[in-house]
Amino acid sequence: MNAMKIGIAGLGTVGGGVAKGLRVHGEMLDARAGTPLELVAVCDRDPAKREAFDAPAKLDDIKALAASKADLIVELIGGENGAAPMLVEEALKAGKHVVTANKAMMARHGARLAALAEKNGRALKFEAAVAGGIPIVKSLRESLIVNGIKAVRGILNGTCNYILTQMEATGRSFDDVLKDAQALGYAEADPELDVGGGDTAHKLALLTALAFGVAPDLDAVSVQGIRAITPDDISFAREFGYRIKLLGIARQTDNGIIQRVQPAMVCAGTPLADVDGVLNGVVVNANEAGPFFFEGRGAGEYPTANAVIADIVDIARGNVGSVFGVPAASLSALSPAPAAGA
Ligand code: HSE
Repeated sequence: MNAMKIGIAGLGTVGGGVAKGLRVHGEMLDARAGTPLELVAVCDRDPAKREAFDAPAKLDDIKALAASKADLIVELIGGENGAAPMLVEEALKAGKHVVTANKAMMARHGARLAALAEKNGRALKFEAAVAGGIPIVKSLRESLIVNGIKAVRGILNGTCNYILTQMEATGRSFDDVLKDAQALGYAEADPELDVGGGDTAHKLALLTALAFGVAPDLDAVSVQGIRAITPDDISFAREFGYRIKLLGIARQTDNGIIQRVQPAMVCAGTPLADVDGVLNGVVVNANEAGPFFFEGRGAGEYPTANAVIADIVDIARGNVGSVFGVPAASLSALSPAPAAGA
């Protein structure tokens, strides 16, 4: 039986989790995939990181990885531009499948990369890019297909949710609790991406594309972060029966689809209001079968590695469908954002 040969680029926490998952659960995963999964190459500029991996090829150059004998490349380099999209393009052109956790790249270049993948008959999967371990991408892409989705709302950034939860529990200031979140390793390398709402916007643009069959459009997301929230805001909200959460909201309106990232008062006791700490939560309002609520760990080695490995297994089984659920050529452009208040 032909093995599915895998190459990993970007050997940080998630890369380590993927390699470990493939090794530790090898027999079970091979059985689920219906073919052996074999790690054949790893790639990182840092030699110390490469040496920590047990793989026949240890590469320092993405072009060499794209030309390697891997059938599937896992892109964990990150970043909207530069090495990550370059590797993905090269790999797809070389006839390889791609699995990525890169929300910024997919939010900005997703439609173009999807077209390239589909032209080459290859998969481009990104479950790990949105809400870590929650299987929301596959659910929207493949399961909720004839429901007519009206809205998707989610807590999509664990760092912000941790900060807001801690501010509420302890009355400490935003800056104080941000330092804790950084020390715990939840925040992005540039925490402004978390607290400014940019990371949530990346994930929201992808959910919007999957839910409504449109091309991801980051520029159409209106974004407000949580820096201005004070412990007083939180305790006033609580007095009136609300909790403050940073939400990503995509909604079908009479004037088209709107996408917003904003701190919102969420009615206490509802599923989203109860999502605490670094957890993520997503509510999908579907016409026929909804509403659905998903909750789980949105970041971290194992949840994210699990999402990557699930995509690998899916591809090995032959699930190489459209990247956003409909062919890239028929992803419509998002209608212009309506005026505020619509
Ligand atoms: N910094 C992100 C978060 C990591 O806090 O949710 C996962 O995308």
